[in-house]
Amino acid sequence: MNYRKNNHLSVSAVLLSVFLIGIIFYNEDVKSLTKFPFYTLQFQKITPHENPLPNEQQTTNLTAEDDEFPPESCDIFDGKWVFDDLTHPLYKEDECEFLTEQVTCMKNGRKDSMYQKWRWQPKDCNLPKFRGKLLVEKLKNKRLMFVGDSLNRNQWESMVCMVQSVVSSGRKSLIKTGSLSIFRIEDYNATVEFYWAPFLVQSNSDDPEIHSILDRIIMPESINIHGQNWKNVDYLVFNTYIWWMNTRNMKVLRGSFDEGATEYDEIERPLAYARVLKTWAEWIDKNINPNRTMVFFNSMSPIHIKSLDWNNPEGIKCAKETSPTLNVTVPPNVGTDRRLFTVATDVIQSMKVPVNFINITTLSEYRKDAHTSIYTIRQGKLLTAEQKADPAVYADCIHWCLPGLPDTWNEFLYTHIISHL
Ligand SMILES: *[C@@H]1O[C@H](CO)[C@@H](O)[C@H](O)[C@H]1NC(C)=O
Ligand SMILES: *[C@@H]1O[C@H](CO)[C@@H](O)[C@H](O)[C@H]1NC(C)=O
Ligand SMILES: *[C@@H]1O[C@H](CO)[C@@H](O)[C@H](O)[C@H]1NC(C)=O
Ligand SMILES: *[C@@H]1O[C@H](CO)[C@@H](O)[C@H](O)[C@H]1NC(C)=O
Ligand SMILES: *[C@@H]1O[C@H](CO)[C@@H](O)[C@H](O)[C@H]1NC(C)=O
Repeated sequence: MNYRKNNHLSVSAVLLSVFLIGIIFYNEDVKSLTKFPFYTLQFQKITPHENPLPNEQQTTNLTAEDDEFPPESCDIFDGKWVFDDLTHPLYKEDECEFLTEQVTCMKNGRKDSMYQKWRWQPKDCNLPKFRGKLLVEKLKNKRLMFVGDSLNRNQWESMVCMVQSVVSSGRKSLIKTGSLSIFRIEDYNATVEFYWAPFLVQSNSDDPEIHSILDRIIMPESINIHGQNWKNVDYLVFNTYIWWMNTRNMKVLRGSFDEGATEYDEIERPLAYARVLKTWAEWIDKNINPNRTMVFFNSMSPIHIKSLDWNNPEGIKCAKETSPTLNVTVPPNVGTDRRLFTVATDVIQSMKVPVNFINITTLSEYRKDAHTSIYTIRQGKLLTAEQKADPAVYADCIHWCLPGLPDTWNEFLYTHIISHL
């Protein structure tokens, strides 16, 4: 990314502030976790699972320990990927009828399936085993909604598959109306929903179908048009990142679309991002009752477009990758704009309503193997054989195959949701 070419001083300043915020935020995170009674009740020393290598005989069996929750002191985002085809994938690609063609990589011709079988192992504790039944019971008479861009839709599809298998056919449905897609579980009166708002605030890219717009323009102080759809939801999961990455600066409308305004200013990405998240935070603080609603914010989902970033000179974007980066000494620098990470942690820290920050960025940066690559659609159609033969142009190294990485993001949500009494 361009900002990396900036002088070293500003890069170090960014790194330093990430570090400082990291320290501050860490404490804040612990503080908000103590609001979950379960964490303290269940506090126990947990020995991490074995970390078997791909070819080793899988010997870890499930035990009562699998339902324990991480102690509040444990940073569940700090850890490593371990191959575990006993517990993962959490569902089968061809057994989830709700997956769209965009993400069904095996069906679309991918031959290797290792990418489905990695489990995230926190360094100092374990994630609880995912139990769909338990989650569905928790969602009884409730709404869970993902709000954001296509990465959040990716995660929503994953969540639908993670819960749908415990519901008998005919007792579940998926209905799409405008910006809102609703997966309904009849017997539990529960919904898992997705709301399209790629910048969270109002923009010219808000049409859920037609949004291939070259000049993306936002109204950073305008959010009610979307926010009215987020009221009376019990679990809200937000994200906004990838749509910011097309240009170095963000185009900010002077005036309002509704009044026909077309002129805009170009504002540095982090400054515009801060304005948007401030608007979002104020909306949450004003409209969300934390006694009813749990709020989550996902950090940035990274992309893998330069194989030299992970020292593979033979690579073509992410197209030839079949395993994660397993050397965790230093996470690969894949060009993630971490300035936005700092903005997000900063804003969340200052809020009245507690927000669970789902820190997926670093752990996802290891997953160069998990993208849809050439096994996906483009403009609504599966890639043709000719297109597949040209991954340098056509590989999608932004979105993720399902089952796959977004299932792990949902395991973090699960951990928070289930442990909250
Ligand atoms: C795991 O379970 C299987 C089947 O119940 C059993 O044969 C095996 O001995 C168990 N392994 C361990 C390590 O407990
Ligand atoms: C996010 O997680 C990474 C490890 O995956 C860690 O290095 C970083 O400090 C975490 N940041 C915050 C703000 O928790
Ligand atoms: C069904 O769920 C909705 C949304 O959470 C809730 O408002 C409604 O009261 C529930 N209906 C019943 C009969 O509990
Ligand atoms: C949330 O619950 C607490 C304790 O029951 C109560 O004091 C507080 O007023 C409630 N907050 C709101 C916004 O309803
Ligand atoms: C892991 O990466 C670090 C930093 O790039 C490098 O110094 C080290 O040699 C690597 N270790 C292995 C086992 O490849």
